Amino acid sequence: MEKNLKYQGRVLVAGATGKTGQWVVKRLLHHGIAVRVFSRDREKALALFGEKVEIFIGRIQSSNDIDRAVSGCQAVISTLGSSSVTGESSPGEVDRDGVIRLVDESAKAGLKHFAIISSLAVTKWYHPLNLFAGVLSKKWEAEEHLRSLFAKEGRTYTIVRPGGLKDGEPLRHKLRVDTGDRLWNGFINRADVAELLVISLWLDKAKNRTFEVINDIEEQQTSLERCYDALPPDCPKIV
Ligand SMILES: NC(=O)c1ccc[n+]([C@@H]2O[C@H](COP(=O)([O-])OP(=O)(O)OC[C@H]3O[C@@H](n4cnc5c(N)ncnc54)[C@H](OP(=O)(O)O)[C@@H]3O)[C@@H](O)[C@H]2O)c1
Repeated sequence: MEKNLKYQGRVLVAGATGKTGQWVVKRLLHHGIAVRVFSRDREKALALFGEKVEIFIGRIQSSNDIDRAVSGCQAVISTLGSSSVTGESSPGEVDRDGVIRLVDESAKAGLKHFAIISSLAVTKWYHPLNLFAGVLSKKWEAEEHLRSLFAKEGRTYTIVRPGGLKDGEPLRHKLRVDTGDRLWNGFINRADVAELLVISLWLDKAKNRTFEVINDIEEQQTSLERCYDALPPDCPKIV
């Protein structure tokens, strides 16, 4: 693997075995960045990634597991997402509490950057998606926690709020970005969300940003770095 000259740290990926998470791992490896995967399922992680990454098995319900998982990493990328209305994979357990635990342990361990996938409409409690156990509101609570804890003491964060996620290759679309949660619909490839999260590791203009993103037009891209050009920093507070 050719080393990345812009970013040298090891990155922990939470939710790596999910559809977006797999793309995050692929793009990290593409950019020559060392990856540690945090998963609850060794067989699944091994089948997907083999020897290409370090695999750490643990539970997002355990602060102790997370503490050991983040040790030796410089950043976290989280693509965790709930899949049931109740129980350990519910929005409260995963999108809010799991993410908040990850944020807290990362800050305690002195990690420098935390990048996360959230969602379009995350500030709109009345959105129909919230009928799924308040998933948007739970994500919003986790966002607020990350913003308040990581925008200080030399730490940084990036919060990507995509529209509906689609499969497909990265860099096939020109993207439209916005802030203030004003976009109501639109789609984007998971692979492009993954790329935006990964390049936030080394781009100053991606630090402490919260933004929405959807496809604009189909058009081959060489890089997504320009998406960050016009984004204002979240200062002092974003809604
Ligand atoms: N679908 C959309 O159109 C859309 C739009 C905007 C935002 N989003 C958000 O984007 C994110 C990624 O979406 P995706 O389609 O890539 O999701 P996904 O394929 O379902 O991946 C979710 C990941 O979370 C992990 N996870 C779930 N419950 C867990 C638990 N209790 N403990 C540990 N890990 C757990 C899964 O682990 P396993 O592999 O072990 O199950 C998986 O790795 C989600 O947060 C989603 O809400 C989705």
